[in-house]
Amino acid sequence: MGRALEPFVALTGAGVSAESGVPTFRGPGGLWQSRRPEELANPQAFARDPLLVWRFYAWRRSVVARCSPNAAHLTLADVEDHIGDFTLITQNVDGLHEAAGNRRVVELHGSLWRLRCTRCRERWEERRVPFPEMPPRCPSCGGLARPDVVWFGEGLEQGILNRAMSSAARARLMLVVGTSAVVHPAAQLPLIAKKAGAWIVEINPEETPVSIYADEVIRGPAAQVLPEWWARNRDE
Ligand code: APR
Repeated sequence: MGRALEPFVALTGAGVSAESGVPTFRGPGGLWQSRRPEELANPQAFARDPLLVWRFYAWRRSVVARCSPNAAHLTLADVEDHIGDFTLITQNVDGLHEAAGNRRVVELHGSLWRLRCTRCRERWEERRVPFPEMPPRCPSCGGLARPDVVWFGEGLEQGILNRAMSSAARARLMLVVGTSAVVHPAAQLPLIAKKAGAWIVEINPEETPVSIYADEVIRGPAAQVLPEWWARNRDE
């Protein structure tokens, strides 16, 4: 590659977890009871029928609970061990980057393994599988709990978005792995990095809007091609 590796930013999407068995959003296998995620992962659906949305998340958690990090996740954990100035930004809510050993993960869209109070916004960890049958009540104020994920139509948390944008703006290398790059603002991050002069590497079996301006495009499944890319570049 012949480029500096730091600051190094990786942006991941559902494709990085595909080979672990977690269905992507815009590919096959992401449906629950013939419903698209957009129909259920939104605040109106939860207000209308909290139990239905809750059961959708119970299903997603049970799927993810059976999955383990794959070689792509493990490679990104190795990157964090080797690179002092490394930021991992993920759109995934599955927690597989942390399970692989990454310690500093910017979770743009929240986590399946946390709940949040709909009234006072307190957050807490909830790792039980199976999920409790009903949405629990907030331990502080008794309000209804919801998954601590960003739903369609909701904004990202400002502090988290700022962290992601400033990392992108100072990156010299950005690796974009397994995202269709159509959901904003996450999809803007590679463009911010590119405009600031970063070298952009895309890993994805399919073409995406990033492919047009990426400096390097690797077409293949992340669990196979990401470890190979890292082996080639690690000791440069
Ligand atoms: N390795 C790498 N990439 C893969 C693999 C694989 N094995 N399999 C599929 N992909 C790619 C697909 O080609 C596609 O570009 O992963 C991408 C998955 O795209 P999406 O399902 O749209 O996932 P993502 O980009 O993470 O979605 C963004 O949308 O629904 C919301 O909040 C949700 O975080 C999600 C956001």
